[in-house]
Amino acid sequence: MKKYSIVVAGGGSTFTPGIALMLLEQSHRFPIRKIKFYDNDEKRQEVIAKACEIYFKENAPEVEFSYTTDPKEAFTDIDFVMAHIRVGKYEMREKDEKIPLKYGVVGQETCGPGGIAYGMRSIGGIIELIDYMEEYSPNAWMLNYSNPAAIVAEATQRLRPDSKILNICDMPVDIEEKMANMVGLKSRKEMDVQYYGLNHFGWWHKIYDKEGNDLMPEIKKHVAENGFAGAISETNQHVEASWVDTFRKAKDVFAVDPTTIPNTYLKYYFFPDYVVEHSNPEYTRANEVMEHREKNIFKVCNEIIEKGTAEGAPFEADAHASYIVDLACAIAKNTKEKMLLIVPNDGAIVNFDSTAMVEIPCIVGSNGYERIVQGEIPRFQKGLMEQQVAVEKLTVEAWIEGSYYKLWQAMTLSKVVPSASVAKSILDDMIEANKGYWPELK
Ligand code: NAD
Ligand code: G6P
Ligand code: MN
Repeated sequence: MKKYSIVVAGGGSTFTPGIALMLLEQSHRFPIRKIKFYDNDEKRQEVIAKACEIYFKENAPEVEFSYTTDPKEAFTDIDFVMAHIRVGKYEMREKDEKIPLKYGVVGQETCGPGGIAYGMRSIGGIIELIDYMEEYSPNAWMLNYSNPAAIVAEATQRLRPDSKILNICDMPVDIEEKMANMVGLKSRKEMDVQYYGLNHFGWWHKIYDKEGNDLMPEIKKHVAENGFAGAISETNQHVEASWVDTFRKAKDVFAVDPTTIPNTYLKYYFFPDYVVEHSNPEYTRANEVMEHREKNIFKVCNEIIEKGTAEGAPFEADAHASYIVDLACAIAKNTKEKMLLIVPNDGAIVNFDSTAMVEIPCIVGSNGYERIVQGEIPRFQKGLMEQQVAVEKLTVEAWIEGSYYKLWQAMTLSKVVPSASVAKSILDDMIEANKGYWPELK
């Protein structure tokens, strides 16, 4: 069997150990000859990488492991780039969340003004990774799950339309696991789903089992009563109180349109008043993540380094992330697996902007993806999506053109922002906070 060489971009990410261990766990179907970590923060990456190096030596000495901040070294001789960078790190995520809240507006990593601000930082970072990949390994594919995926996907489509990059999100994976659990199936892979929307902004409209039986009635019954709460999925990622609330709140999101099953992220657009009321402007999700996930990962890694061994360390593979291996396998082995990807619409949602980057099921193989047509969508979803896609496109245009007005328009148009004046106040604070990360706006 062919063995693959991978670079993990964002080697210092809190998700890197879980993904690296998951890759080892899945090596029976996706064999690896080389894993490299790449990051532009040498110190941060070093802690994660040294611990992983010890783990690899002990558990997979046959895999060549290395880490670097040098793009040439990182991107030479690779088959896949697995990209999960966070430009500005948690320090900037905290500002994305807290600045809007100062004005009584939803403060969220990928939704509303926070997502727009994060997008303005991410575009340059991702384009840089694509260019390194194409310079040093022109046949490689980039599997990107860096956020905000909707804006990143729109930007790469605009700026690098021919590049081999696939954008994917894990939220539907987790929700599908929960839905499978609701109907007594072992895995989401025992279901056939139809889904349409934008990233973090979509709906399931058909769900069948492998015999073709309609699972929607039973799933709807559960969601109408409990949202996604009370259903189990494998991930240990979405478990804290704020996530539990999000899964429960899906009940109210569902009530607005009981013909479809909503993505959890619609909570921010349908119930921004509720979200703001339940937010603490002094302590947001970024603080929660820094105090829990980040602290914990770095503590475990430092202990492994001090002891010189990973034996007995609470270092776990992130099984939930195996969808990334599904995607890599689809390309490497032409498996033609059906997966939700973020791709140019191009007629798949018949009555929607053909240039929009939509999240829909695709068949993935060694030559890329084929879209599965979702047909016409209802006026409610279409109206919401048109507004949101305009926000995303205006953000990317603002980045490309350095346009203050387009970014102000993007923020004004965001469903969670009440007025152009509030949009302007948030924008002006964001410009100040993002100095050195955003292009200069005129
Ligand atoms: P993190 O801050 O712990 O890690 C991100 C790393 O990226 C940092 O080490 C940072 O130094 C590095 N980085 C930043 N800019 C870079 C650049 N230009 N080049 C190279 N490296 C750079 O963040 P995290 O919480 O672990 O999340 C990582 C990313 O994964 C985020 O974008 C997050 O939103 C995303 N994510 C996406 C999904 C999904 O479903 N799509 C799921 C989970 C996380
Ligand atoms: C889900 C989303 C990701 C997002 C993550 C945030 O998995 O699909 O796009 O990055 O949640 O999780 P966090 O624990 O960092 O708040
Ligand atoms: Mn996501």
